[in-house]
Amino acid sequence: MWEKKPFLFLAMATAAILVGTIITMVLPFAWVNTEADRISSVTPYTPLEQEGRDLYIREGCNNCHTQTVRPLVAEVVRYGDYSKSGEFVYDRPFLWGSKRTGPDLARIGGKYPDAWHYQHFADPQSMIPKSNMPDHDWLAENQLDPEMIRRKMEVLGFPYSEAQIQGLSGKTEMDAMVAYMQKLGSDIPWRQASQTLVVGEVKNPFPGDAAAIEAGAQLYQQHCAACHGKDLEGGIGPELGDMGMDDADLYQVLFEGVTDGGMPSFSSLGSDRVWKIVNFINYSKEP
Ligand code: HEC
Ligand code: HEC
Repeated sequence: MWEKKPFLFLAMATAAILVGTIITMVLPFAWVNTEADRISSVTPYTPLEQEGRDLYIREGCNNCHTQTVRPLVAEVVRYGDYSKSGEFVYDRPFLWGSKRTGPDLARIGGKYPDAWHYQHFADPQSMIPKSNMPDHDWLAENQLDPEMIRRKMEVLGFPYSEAQIQGLSGKTEMDAMVAYMQKLGSDIPWRQASQTLVVGEVKNPFPGDAAAIEAGAQLYQQHCAACHGKDLEGGIGPELGDMGMDDADLYQVLFEGVTDGGMPSFSSLGSDRVWKIVNFINYSKEP
């Protein structure tokens, strides 16, 4: 019967829609953008990082990479602590994205040393043979324009110092991109907080087992060779030939990674595979 009274119906429909709008849009604004929601350790981008961010947009990296870790167990295990809204206050526009041809990058900062990124951008397949990420080696040939970047910082209202602007001359787009990568997700100390620690007794389940060494050799080529060399000879990371680390210690290093050292944690491979790698490193050169 209401539908026969157009004006009353219109008023009621408007009211119904308004309730929805207020609950889903207006109230969250009041709740979310409060001082309590700010994270004090989150800082604006430096001129170099901001330029990297603009290049990220120019190159369309967001077509293959997301920048948000959802609060789901599988994502947190793979990428690290889930993203907090306060971490994006300086992202204009945000780059959460929706397509993951490549992995999420919200927590990429500090995962690898700079040298890894330089080599990976220049030639991804040299580090991850099956990667379909395109080369970006030419970024290293383009110089930055300090005056242009100064203007961008002014428009955004981000603080910068004269020394930072001067420091841009001689830097390339590649330097900017790597600096941006290292900034992403590293403003909050999540690594210490969410590190998976090895608890209880650790004991090699298959010491010196031939099949385990064989499987470990393959896993090593996939996950470690890019940084430690095909024959353990070292590269971005140290030589692993004769470290003399016992099985339990080696297992722990691989499982937990080296915080601040640029060696990622391999807990996501699962205990079994980590032990196979341990066996490859410690037993394949038995006399
Ligand atoms: C065609 C899709 C594609 C594009 C475009 C692309 N990537 Fe990737 N990216 C990938 C894939 C797939 C991987 C996983 C394999 C690898 O590491 O190379 C990856 C890996 C990465 C990694 C390592 C992530 C990790 O946790 O190991 C970084 C960093 C990265 N990309 C940054 C970028 C940046 C910055 C750009 C833009 C300049 C970009 N990518 C463009 C597909 C892409
Ligand atoms: C992104 C590059 C990278 C990858 C991939 C990587 N590492 Fe490392 N690794 C490093 C760096 C850098 C260090 C030195 C860290 C430090 O001590 O500051 C290191 C250190 C180590 C150490 C010595 C730790 C110590 O306390 O002396 C071992 C053992 C090791 N890595 C084994 C491995 C194994 C096995 C893999 C594969 C599962 C692997 N790494 C993958 C970069 C990497």
